[in-house]
Amino acid sequence: MGQKGKEISKLDHKWLLNELNKAYAFEWVVHYYASLAANIVSGLATPVYAEIFKKASEGELGHANRIAKRIAELGGEPALSMSEIEKTAGIGIIRFPENRSNIKGFIKLFIKMEQHAIELYNNLAQATHGKDLVTHELAEDLLSEEVAEEEEYENLLRE
Ligand SMILES: [Fe+2]
Repeated sequence: MGQKGKEISKLDHKWLLNELNKAYAFEWVVHYYASLAANIVSGLATPVYAEIFKKASEGELGHANRIAKRIAELGGEPALSMSEIEKTAGIGIIRFPENRSNIKGFIKLFIKMEQHAIELYNNLAQATHGKDLVTHELAEDLLSEEVAEEEEYENLLRE
């Protein structure tokens, strides 16, 4: 980021980069698990749900890339290895239902991940409010997407 661009961010950059890195890592982990889910779900409804998870996976990667861009603007770099991503994401190992046609079991796990993301972006949006408008806008934008995704998953649970 240019000098002025950095100046107008009134937050401790080290702290901010750390928070953004957590979000980046988290998005990558969700991207991975959604892609995995798309590849392993089975049963009658497989094509429908495989497509839903595939789209979700692409969406999460898009989020990760937007965060990476912001990290670069602030003069940082995202996690440099997959092991660092796993460590930084802070959600542990996700275990999908043994029964691969238990779609609701899959969805419940993704709801948990969405809720984690909602908390993450809600905190980031609050911490950056009035202090780093660019990150604030990004956090708000991602927050509204995660909120919508949580609702979509919840609706699928009711089907
Ligand atoms: Fe996301």
